[in-house]
Amino acid sequence: MNTTKKTANWRVVLATAGLLSSGMFAHAENGSEGWLRYAPLPAAAKTQYVALPGRVVALDNSAMGQSASGELKRGLSSMLGQEVSAETKLGSDAFIVGTVADLQSALPAWHAPAGIGDEGFAVAQAQSGGHSYWVIAGKDGHGELYGIFHVLQSIATEKPLVADTEAPSAPIRWADEWDNFDGTIERGWAGRSIFFEGGHVRADLSRVGAYGRLLASIGINGVAINNVNANKMTLDSDMLKQIARIADAFRPWGVHISVAVPMASPQDVGGLKTFDPLDPDVAAWWQKKTDEIYTLIPDFAGYLVKADSEGQRGPAQYGRTPADAANVLARPLKAHGGVVMYRGFVYNNHLDWNDMKADRARAGYDNFRYLDGKFEPNVVIQIKNGPIDFQVREPVSPLFTALPHTNVAIEVQTTQEYTGQAHHMVFLAPMWRTYLDTDLRVDSKPSALKSIVTGKVFQRPLSGFVSVVNVGLEDNWMHHPMSMANLYGYGRLAWNPDLSSEQIIDEWTRMTWGNNPQVVSTIDKLNLESWHAYEEYTGPLGVGGLTNITGPHYGPGIESAERNGWGQWIRADHDGIGMDRTVATGTGFIGQYPPELAAKYESLKTCPDELLLFMHHVPYTYVLHNGKTVVQYTYDTHYDGAKIAASYPVEWRKLKGLIDNERYEKTLTMLNYQAAHADVWRDAVDQWFAKMSGIPDKLGRVGHDPDRIEAEAMDATGYKTTDMAPYFENASNGKFAACSDAAGCSLKTKLDKPMGTYSIGVQYFDTVQGASSFDLILDGKSIGQWKADETWPGRRPDADNSTRFTVENIHLKPGDTLELRGKSDKTEQAPVDYIEITPEGSKAQMKMASK
Ligand code: GCU
Repeated sequence: MNTTKKTANWRVVLATAGLLSSGMFAHAENGSEGWLRYAPLPAAAKTQYVALPGRVVALDNSAMGQSASGELKRGLSSMLGQEVSAETKLGSDAFIVGTVADLQSALPAWHAPAGIGDEGFAVAQAQSGGHSYWVIAGKDGHGELYGIFHVLQSIATEKPLVADTEAPSAPIRWADEWDNFDGTIERGWAGRSIFFEGGHVRADLSRVGAYGRLLASIGINGVAINNVNANKMTLDSDMLKQIARIADAFRPWGVHISVAVPMASPQDVGGLKTFDPLDPDVAAWWQKKTDEIYTLIPDFAGYLVKADSEGQRGPAQYGRTPADAANVLARPLKAHGGVVMYRGFVYNNHLDWNDMKADRARAGYDNFRYLDGKFEPNVVIQIKNGPIDFQVREPVSPLFTALPHTNVAIEVQTTQEYTGQAHHMVFLAPMWRTYLDTDLRVDSKPSALKSIVTGKVFQRPLSGFVSVVNVGLEDNWMHHPMSMANLYGYGRLAWNPDLSSEQIIDEWTRMTWGNNPQVVSTIDKLNLESWHAYEEYTGPLGVGGLTNITGPHYGPGIESAERNGWGQWIRADHDGIGMDRTVATGTGFIGQYPPELAAKYESLKTCPDELLLFMHHVPYTYVLHNGKTVVQYTYDTHYDGAKIAASYPVEWRKLKGLIDNERYEKTLTMLNYQAAHADVWRDAVDQWFAKMSGIPDKLGRVGHDPDRIEAEAMDATGYKTTDMAPYFENASNGKFAACSDAAGCSLKTKLDKPMGTYSIGVQYFDTVQGASSFDLILDGKSIGQWKADETWPGRRPDADNSTRFTVENIHLKPGDTLELRGKSDKTEQAPVDYIEITPEGSKAQMKMASK
């Protein structure tokens, strides 16, 4: 008998199998090196590099120069398995690392390619005095780092080393971390903060240096280190002294820090009566505070501001504008070379849901457009990719088109707040590409978003990319072993927004998991289809995330979007669904786009299906361009998406032995969990659509699960049937059973399955508190025991914490008795939704890992 627990519980897995690495993999791997593992290359792969020199000459003594040459030495010796010596003088074949200026004085025979862009590099071969050199010349220290990482990436991915000259697409390439001083991270899924603990900067900042190295390797040059919902005392002098240590830890990697600042700091920290940005005392306070910061952190990158948004105080309190607020911060920063990243995420979260013209999506444009040209030159408006909030599908924010005289940067979200929260594998580069490639048709001319955010369309000197990342102290940084693909993808796209998702994932996979062709093709494929699959089993047609908006933003919570002030409405009733954002009859949002794009979205004939419900309210029977009705398409995509998720563990198991066991097992557990949770999503959304529309699934799947035995239909001792509330559809049939007897409870049923071999899956709830225990018993014999000891979101049973335990290869005959015994722990009442019994092999998702 094989058993698999379908939750992310690696404690169990590691105890049984994972710690024993196979002969091929000498070390268990915990993911802490990310994609910078520098795994030794197999002999065959090494042959193409035999001519490479075994010496690294460092011409630049600066901290960045030293990091660059040290990292090159480390990577080369590890991958090529040979001693590499570090030198300071030319004289025999070598890699030479330095700035262009260093190179030209040390090697006059070499001429740098013309026009290397800021922070760029040239990698080239040069001959001099009878010696062969590989030159890695940075325009500056950043360029040196990016150049050596480029060389190491070529070798790690087994590509030939060739001459190349590159530079980043835009000057701003930042990561925003939403870390709190108490050590928690807002929307972080990988443990506690690498920066803060207990109200202070952590004593041990070794993970900060390690993070800086990873960031430098993908060209990220700035990090905002604290939550945009910033602590009132962020700018307190004592805290700033501590924060300077974080800057020190990042500095060798060319990563400059910024802090998120509350606009009310002059009051809260400075003790002034006001924080009115036009008050001269307030301006003087910011001047003094900024100068103080630069004495501590000479390369400070600047301020990040969230104001007049979701409870953060801002200039509106004094009738002032975002420009007034941004400028009072920008003026003192200017002399030091710092910038203000002012977030365009300003909206009213107390909207009147009865007002059919109210629309949160309009807010960014309405709040900023009239200020175009009024910002200081070192202010950048940081605009979320879509007009709402990192949903699985949104149109591009129209605000990008409305600020031709203002610097802008795009803000994306690597931490997967609305896309599976590092429990689902969802590779986001294809989604970001969709945004970056959207042609916004400014002045009816080609104007892809990527050309706007790299400053090309409006000729802006400052521009770029920001991503909310939220790494944590967990070894592998982002919890899901696949989530680091998103950080890698973000950095690579910020460096070059023309890179394809295929190229990005291929680089990441090779560096992270090795170059074995089966490993590479499997991991590339799983990742490349994952965003689309997630969209299918959660919320297709641009309807929104359909997630629990008022809760953790994780599992399904369809009606949570409606009837509250947050404005993520889907405007569903029994006849139809979708926000009418047309100019003709709706909120007028579509009119914020340049005319060509507005015309495309306004007309049902030309509005793309994938954005239909974002732009229009239509009946459930509305026929899409693909010929299906909205409701049938919704049913179908949910089954299709869940089927793709079900294939993930099946595909993954084929890689056993081809990668290290530790990461193999951890990933398998997560993919098993995802497959089960995709079913939870599918069932909740499809049941809800069926209930709302009253239209049955043509294929008869929705609400008909012949393989399921509902908990409430079993003979219960101690278990009580409970209605799922507030969202009926978050449990199969709207009900589950909760154990109300401290001594333990039981659910029993007589089976009438034909003789054969089956998988038995128990769908239960594992809430954030307690560790209920379960025992699955067939004809008096235990066939599986487990504890609900995960901490999925939510204190009460809900789709956020619905999960599955599966036993495989169970022989059944008619008349067998199946019993589930549950024992509560704390307030977790061993809650159970259903048991599903499927013939072995009939359902991909029931094919679990063999242990
Ligand atoms: C989302 C997120 C918040 C965050 C906000 C922001 O709404 O849920 O946690 O504070 O975005 O970007 O400011």
